[in-house]
Amino acid sequence: MKIMVVGGGGREHAIIKKLKENSSVEKIYALPGNGGIAADAECVNIGACDIDSIIEFAVENKIDYAVVAPDDPLVLGAVDSLEEVGIPCFGPRKNAAIIEGSKAFSKNLMKKYGIPTAKYEIFDNLECALDYIETCPIPTVIKADGLALGKGVIIAETRDAARDAVRSMMADKAFGKSGETVVVEEFLTGPEVSVLSFTDGNVVVPMISSMDHKRAGDGDTGLNTGGMGTVAPNPYYTSEIADKCMQTIFEPTIKAMSAEGRTFKGCLYFGLMITPGGPKVIEYNCRFGDPETQVVLPLLESDLLTVMQAVTDGKLAETEVKFSNKSACCVIMASDGYPVKYDKGFEITIPDDIVNNVYVAGASSKDGKLLTSGGRVLGVTETADTLSEAVRKSYKSVEKIKFDNAYYRHDIGARALLAAEEK
Ligand code: AMP
Ligand code: GLY
Repeated sequence: MKIMVVGGGGREHAIIKKLKENSSVEKIYALPGNGGIAADAECVNIGACDIDSIIEFAVENKIDYAVVAPDDPLVLGAVDSLEEVGIPCFGPRKNAAIIEGSKAFSKNLMKKYGIPTAKYEIFDNLECALDYIETCPIPTVIKADGLALGKGVIIAETRDAARDAVRSMMADKAFGKSGETVVVEEFLTGPEVSVLSFTDGNVVVPMISSMDHKRAGDGDTGLNTGGMGTVAPNPYYTSEIADKCMQTIFEPTIKAMSAEGRTFKGCLYFGLMITPGGPKVIEYNCRFGDPETQVVLPLLESDLLTVMQAVTDGKLAETEVKFSNKSACCVIMASDGYPVKYDKGFEITIPDDIVNNVYVAGASSKDGKLLTSGGRVLGVTETADTLSEAVRKSYKSVEKIKFDNAYYRHDIGARALLAAEEK
């Protein structure tokens, strides 16, 4: 089989490495991939949002199966376009990807179907938003409606900060069109859990739970990033909470989307907060999380391609999706200065004994050398029988990888280990 994976980060590298385990896979193309992914797939210089070129490439190269991994092409309708030319695909259609593409849509969906989430109001008029902020409880959370590279959420600790946030989104257009509509939301508290799931629209199969570390600095300080590391499973996600999530969130969401004529097929990501009032949805993503995928897929014992095809064919109920009982830890190595400003172009060396556990996010290749080319450069995942052992092994591997200007957090997994001890 010839497979095409759209995207070019650490998540796509993890998907590609897992797909390669299936012996019927002859060739994988990554569009655009990156210098590190090139070791596992043929990288093609077509951007993930260049839908016309993606379709042309897929038809010309007789692609048998496509995986669209990032949010933007999904929201733009890449899956619909691939299906139109007869290429089976993993990922939701445009009318279902809106669950991530519009926070106003997802909040209204949850309200209509009684799915637990933070209370909210939606505004497309600045004056009305400012009026509301005069009386709403503080802290409050301001969210740009559309996609904003993970930066469109502001937790306002004061009324002034809330006013500034809506002004910057709605008047100054800090996130362009994405911030023309804003959601002003109740501030929730509690540990966060990421649950990725496979769904074919009929059944939903949660994957192993995970915990992201979004802030740049140790101790959850500094700016929000795309994610500095992950662990799986997440100790806050007990079997009792998992049951509750299935009954009150996962199944109701799948049913709601189908009832709306927006059947969701692909990976639906539930960003949850375990509040004192029970688990609530913080966000939905219409795709695999990054870097959650880099800890979840290494623990998947079933064949990924078989599961993905079952999703596409609506046969997930008949397909085994099995995870190992082990734990995993992924530490992201970034360029110092990320997420703001950083130098790039430094040579990366990765010893052969750990290269299989490295997922490259931002690197180019030149004259046979791998060079840093992004903020997040790579992730190192190790698995072990216990979480503490997985964390220890990951940091040991991190120390073996060299590039100038490398930066990483030193406490990935620390909070999870503490939580596990408290149980
Ligand atoms: P999102 O981009 O929706 O994942 O939001 C980014 C981060 O903001 C989340 O991971 C949470 O830590 C935080 N956040 C979002 N919504 C809320 C909320 N209603 N209450 C408290 N924190 C929130
Ligand atoms: N790690 C968070 C996300 O993928 O959105």
